[in-house]
Amino acid sequence: MSERAGVGVENDTIKRRCAEAGGMNPKILILGPPGAGKGTQSGRLADEFGVEHVTTGDALRANKEMDISDMDTEYDTPGEYMDRGDLVPDVVVDAMVGEALDGREGFVLDGYPRNGDQAEALKDMTDLDVVLVLDVPEEELVDRLTGRRVCEDCGTNYHVEFNQPEEAGVCDECGGDLYQREDDDEESVRNRLSVYHDNTEPVLELYADHDGYVEIDGDQAPDEVWEDVKAAVEAEA
Ligand code: AP5
Ligand code: MG
Ligand code: ZN
Repeated sequence: MSERAGVGVENDTIKRRCAEAGGMNPKILILGPPGAGKGTQSGRLADEFGVEHVTTGDALRANKEMDISDMDTEYDTPGEYMDRGDLVPDVVVDAMVGEALDGREGFVLDGYPRNGDQAEALKDMTDLDVVLVLDVPEEELVDRLTGRRVCEDCGTNYHVEFNQPEEAGVCDECGGDLYQREDDDEESVRNRLSVYHDNTEPVLELYADHDGYVEIDGDQAPDEVWEDVKAAVEAEA
C-alpha cells in the first residue's frame, strides 16, 4: 500500500473517532435520479461522519442471483429486474433495508425509498435527520451513467471523462479493476430514468416539508457538490 493511501486510512479513522466522540451520528437520506452522484457523495459522507453507507443498489448487485421465486414475484432473481432497469419488488427491498438499518445509530441511505410504499415502510423503520436531494439536468445524467466505471473491489465510482482514475481501468483507492455496470448501457439508462420519473419523483414531494430537507445543485464538479453536501449535513444534523 502506498504512503499516501496509508495517510488516507489514518485520516478516515481519526474523522470517524471524532464524529463518534461528538455524538453526531447523523441519519441521512440522499435522493436523486440515476447518475445524480448519490453513490459518489454517500461514500464521502460515510468517511467524513463515520456512518455506514446503506445502499440498496450495491446490496442488490451483491445478491443478483438470489432466489426470490417463493416471494410471488414476476422474475426469480433481483438481477433480472436490475439489468432491465426496473424496480426490484418492494417485498425484497424493504426486508433488506429493514435489516441494514436495524439498531443503527447513524447512516447514509442511498437508493431507497423509490416509491410511495417504500417511503411508508421507511417511516416505520427509522427517523431521519437530514434529507438531501441532488438536482441534475436529465441530459447530463445519460452522459454520466454511460461513462461510469466502478471498482469491483471497493465500489468507488469513476467516469471516463469527468472523474478519471490516475491509471485507466485501475482504482486509485485500492488498485482493483474497474468495470462497467450491466445497467449502464443506453437502453437500460433510458428505462431507469423513466422508472425514476414515474415512481420516485413523486417521493420527493413527500419529504419537501421534512426537517433537514435540503436541495443541492448536483450539476457542479464533484468537489463543489461535496462542499454543499457537507455544509448541509453540518447545519441540519
Ligand atoms: P442503484 O445502484 O441505486 O442505481 P441508480 O439509482 O440508478 O443510481 P446510480 O447508482 O446509477 O447513480 P448515483 O446517483 O449513485 O451516481 P454515481 O455517484 O454513481 O440501483 C440499481 C438498480 O437496483 C435499480 O435500477 C433497481 O433495479 C434496483 N434497486 C435499487 N434500489 C431499489 C429500490 N429501493 N427498490 C427497487 N429496486 C431497487 O455517479 C454516476 C457517474 O457520474 C459516475 O461515473 C461518477 O463518477 C460521475 N459523477 C458523480 N458526480 C459527478 C459530478 N458532480 N460531475 C460529473 N460527474 C459526476
Ligand atoms: Mg449509486
Ligand atoms: Zn477500489
